[in-house]
Amino acid sequence: MQKKFLTGQCIVLGVTGGIAAYKAVEVASSLKKLGAEVQVVMTEAAQEFVQPLTFRAVTHNPVITDMFAEPKSWEVEHISLAQKADLFLIVPATANIIGKIANGIADDMLSTTAMATQASVLLAPAMNVNMYNNPILQSNIDKLSKLGYGVVEPASGYLACGVEGKGRLAAPEKIVELAIRELTLSADWQGVKVLVTAGGTQEPWDPVRYLGNHSSGKMGYAVAKVAARRGAEVLLVTAPTALESPLGVEVEQVQTAREMYEAVLAVAAEQEVIIKAAAVADYRPQNKAEDKIKKDESEPLINLERNPDILAELGRRKERQFLVGFAAESEQLLTNAQAKLKNKNLDLIVANDISAVDSGFKVDTNQVVLISAQDQQELPKLSKMEVAARLLDKIVELREE
Ligand code: PMT
Repeated sequence: MQKKFLTGQCIVLGVTGGIAAYKAVEVASSLKKLGAEVQVVMTEAAQEFVQPLTFRAVTHNPVITDMFAEPKSWEVEHISLAQKADLFLIVPATANIIGKIANGIADDMLSTTAMATQASVLLAPAMNVNMYNNPILQSNIDKLSKLGYGVVEPASGYLACGVEGKGRLAAPEKIVELAIRELTLSADWQGVKVLVTAGGTQEPWDPVRYLGNHSSGKMGYAVAKVAARRGAEVLLVTAPTALESPLGVEVEQVQTAREMYEAVLAVAAEQEVIIKAAAVADYRPQNKAEDKIKKDESEPLINLERNPDILAELGRRKERQFLVGFAAESEQLLTNAQAKLKNKNLDLIVANDISAVDSGFKVDTNQVVLISAQDQQELPKLSKMEVAARLLDKIVELREE
């Protein structure tokens, strides 16, 4: 079975008595799908909002609701859970549990286990806006943050209690993303400065029309996201996409190849690794019209002129950077990619056959060959997130050599 992102990781998910408890089901489900073992501990109040059976169905694990129920195994459950946990997540975290943990109160399964664990603890507060603004709650959060507890900033907006303000549980996908980062901050990318480009440049012809390509940005965003999760300091220079900015990544938006050229060359010298997944237009319309071209005029001609080759320029200027290019080929994949590796002075090139089904532009999967001067590694069809993880592993391997 294919190794998933969080395979082997044990996450204790504490659920407390807030209306947002139902969103903890989505968090549990997402973490389970990523391969984590999810062990849910519910407070008594939480069971007023969501049935334990719901979590059991999602996690395939018994749900712990009471410290004094007969332990199922010889270990005292709250200690063994505390020891087993790779991450301790509390979603939602009510003012009550925050107050208990901040003041060392351990009078139920959740607060006792939270006190006993050595794992990172990540809290996702959710409550009425006035409770959230209460100075006692705020000082409890401040105290826990100073002690190294992670706090997922609540969202603002319309709350269940009928008022606007800050106190709504953060989006489940954001909580999951932060949980993944807590679990996967492996040392191999900690603090490494990485520049990633993504998306398809757009070359204007008139104020309405442009020459574009099919790049969705998914491949580059996956590389940026995985690098950030593994502790890298990531700058993503991206052409327009429909994608959300990845968490923990600095994003610079550009539109044209020349704008991307300027943005990339301005910061290239300070980067340790540069990964160019963007689909950069080789040509742009020479005669860009200031006004919308009317169709009643004679058939318009589009004369093209060359754009700068960003990757080639990076190859020319390369000092200590590890330089990675992508090759989007529809035929002679390896020959063309190997030529680019050499001609552009790259350290590694990711060759993808964009004519293959479920590979290349737009789709969530990709089938690539990682080619360096030392070797070439053909990967099976994988998700773009998995391709990104394998690419980063390869870069670590080559940089160590
Ligand atoms: O964004 P997705 O929808 O997920 O699709 C992913 C992808 C297919 C776009 C991606 O996997 C990919 O192959 N990106 C490179 C696309 C491309 O422009 O390939 P190319 O063979 O034309 O260019 C080779 C390399 O030179 C690329 O690293 C490119 O960023 C770079 N280049 C190209 C032209 C140019 N003027 N400047 C450049 O820097």
